[in-house]
Amino acid sequence: MADLNLLVPEDEIEKQKEYMARIATFGGGKYKINTYGCQMNEHDSEVLAGMLEQMGYNATSDDEEADVILYNTCCVRDNAERRAAGNIGILAGLKKRKPGVIIGVCGCMMQEQGAAENLLKLRPYVNLIFGTHNLHKFPELFYTALQGKKVKVIEQNDQGCIPEGLPIARKNPITGYLTIMYGCNNFCSYCIVPYVRGRERSRSIASIVKEAEEMAKTGISEIMLLGQNVNSFGLGSEESFPKLLHELDGVVPRLRFMTSHPKDLSDALIEEMAVSKTVCPQFHLPVQSGSDRILSEMNRRYDREHYLNRVAMLRQAIPNVGLTTDIIAGFPGETEQDFEDTLSLVKEVRYDGAFTFIYSPRVGTGAAAMENQVPEEVKHERLSRLIALQDEITKEQLSGQVGSVQEVLIEGLSKRQNDAVYGRTGRGMTVNCKGKEEWIGHILPVSITDAGSNTLRGEIITKE
Ligand code: 5AD
Ligand code: SF4
Repeated sequence: MADLNLLVPEDEIEKQKEYMARIATFGGGKYKINTYGCQMNEHDSEVLAGMLEQMGYNATSDDEEADVILYNTCCVRDNAERRAAGNIGILAGLKKRKPGVIIGVCGCMMQEQGAAENLLKLRPYVNLIFGTHNLHKFPELFYTALQGKKVKVIEQNDQGCIPEGLPIARKNPITGYLTIMYGCNNFCSYCIVPYVRGRERSRSIASIVKEAEEMAKTGISEIMLLGQNVNSFGLGSEESFPKLLHELDGVVPRLRFMTSHPKDLSDALIEEMAVSKTVCPQFHLPVQSGSDRILSEMNRRYDREHYLNRVAMLRQAIPNVGLTTDIIAGFPGETEQDFEDTLSLVKEVRYDGAFTFIYSPRVGTGAAAMENQVPEEVKHERLSRLIALQDEITKEQLSGQVGSVQEVLIEGLSKRQNDAVYGRTGRGMTVNCKGKEEWIGHILPVSITDAGSNTLRGEIITKE
């Protein structure tokens, strides 16, 4: 069961629905949402889009045409913050030409201490500011902004809430996101997420299954379950992540999930994955560093041996499992030897792919206050070496698939060729092949013929 105290009360959701209905009578307009950061943010934007569409607004990709422009921001690294701030700055001209346009800024960056005030000082033309804990109140806040008032609502409460029953406008008709939990309790020393997303809280299995069934009815073939730390789903209740996967087995043809924390990756989860008909043989398991000393400074609460043991268990139980990871280069105090430990771990695990980042100090986190920060040029040089190594391994992993037959979910038409389609294997590798539009949404056997540096080529095996 989800924690009932954290559920947004039904009458609050009803109130927001009333605001949506009221705004819908105003005649509607066009909206544009700019999203930064992770899948969680992308999905939050789908909820904002769902609410806007109920209010009679249609999507546009053109700022000039939009009546409301939202920025759903990220603060996990400095470059995401800078990009959002820069783009909001560019809107000054538009706002002068079109004073009626409503500019809203929301998401993680707005939850940072003092960020909303700074933004308003710098960009006084922003009409509407709200944080991650107020997403469900968007209709009410938007209504106030439409009345010509400035709105700034940020709750710095750590606990957070669980909103249920909001409309969602999903971007992709074949693959869809489903949030199963919110927040994070881990406080890795480099990470701002626990400060801006609040404490871990899980939805109930019943409400998740219901949403997955509704997604299946609309034709979605693959669901990506989202949470900052899915392995601790259901913490403090009878529910657990393996139980959830069990209940979801067969609801849609394919399930994936992210993100897993290596310290919480249980044998029970690996066993459930091994027997599930639905969960894809893909595992995103962020390692962050291969050095025990750095892992401890990062407060990751596992060591290299534990991590490699989890990898071995996964590979034993799920043959052909593809592993991906996140790695940070240049954490404070990282020596050349520490970094070489990371490279050696990457060589040992042989990931299909890795998201690699330069360490970015985040104000208020433990690591930002550490004295032994690594110089920028050293961080960049390490990142380049890491990327070069992983690119080589990715290519080899892709080549290893040539000659095999893979089940591929056809996801869309190729952008370059109109008689070609693309899709993904269970392991998560992208495949391009000749194909027809009517095959989109189907899982078809594909004979893999070639491998490039990021994708595969293949031929769909048809009966004709
Ligand atoms: N600097 C660089 N990378 C970071 N990440 C999180 N915080 C930081 C930071 N301060 C990375 C981690 C995490 C991913 C989502 O972002 O690798 O797994
Ligand atoms: Fe950040 Fe660590 Fe939580 Fe992931 S597990 S969101 S890296 S604090």
